[in-house]
Amino acid sequence: MIFYFSATGNSKYAAERIAAATNDRLIFLRDAVRGRSYRYDVAREERIGFVVPVYYGGLPSILRFFLEKLELTGYREQYIYLVLTCGQWTGDAAGQMAALLKKKGLSLSARFGIVMVDNFVPAFHIPGEEEIQRILDGAEEVIDDACRVIRAKGGGDYNRSTGPVPGALTSVMYPAYAHGRSTKPFVVTDHCIGCGLCQEICPCGAILISGGKPAWIKPQCVRCLGCLHRCPAQAIHWKKPDEDRGRYYNPRVEP
Ligand SMILES: Cc1cc2nc3c(=O)[nH]c(=O)nc-3n(C[C@H](O)[C@H](O)[C@H](O)COP(=O)(O)O)c2cc1C
Repeated sequence: MIFYFSATGNSKYAAERIAAATNDRLIFLRDAVRGRSYRYDVAREERIGFVVPVYYGGLPSILRFFLEKLELTGYREQYIYLVLTCGQWTGDAAGQMAALLKKKGLSLSARFGIVMVDNFVPAFHIPGEEEIQRILDGAEEVIDDACRVIRAKGGGDYNRSTGPVPGALTSVMYPAYAHGRSTKPFVVTDHCIGCGLCQEICPCGAILISGGKPAWIKPQCVRCLGCLHRCPAQAIHWKKPDEDRGRYYNPRVEP
């Protein structure tokens, strides 16, 4: 089984490619959390995968939440792997994962990192179409290699995208995620068509359509930026509605 989370398709694409190579079933963390599905039976030879984006050099809050509740019945040292997608560097996100799994008596067998398009528009601009394809072409080989290793249940650290000082990067950046999860900076313009997609896709129920427009009803969210990137009217912005840093959804996968 492959547990994955994705807001703009990068991790979804990687997870689907791995699922196609291994024949393993996909479980979307948003749906698992919504359905309060935390108990999974693991077959003797089954692989257990996690495919998620890196946030602030660490793990998305939805994965932490899910892991706290996760119960793997039938676990007997099966192969567990983590695939991180990122825009540049993963830092020590895999170290966080190993520690969280260890607390539950589970052990992380293999780690992978895939550089894809950076969707973090509060800091970066989304590149043009050609650059997007160039970055995603570069990721294909890394995904192919990961698929081969995962199929063979290869153990070890295969992540070539940790950055030069992964531990330091994570310890400096990750504490900012707590503050960065505030929903205050989201703004909506009059371009909003009230379609409700943002409410539907928000992984933590932080958005409610009220008076025909989204309202953030929780002080914090996962900060995945799915609402901003996928808004069909491009009406959701981060702080400055007049500063357009682009929108992104991985063109190689269906939303
Ligand atoms: C809140 C947030 C924080 C991020 N932090 C990092 C980071 O520390 N390092 C990095 O390389 N990319 C970072 N990114 C970029 C994402 O990890 C990257 O675009 C990822 O592939 C998105 O996955 P998805 O398309 O499956 O949602 C961040 C993105 C968001 C939204």
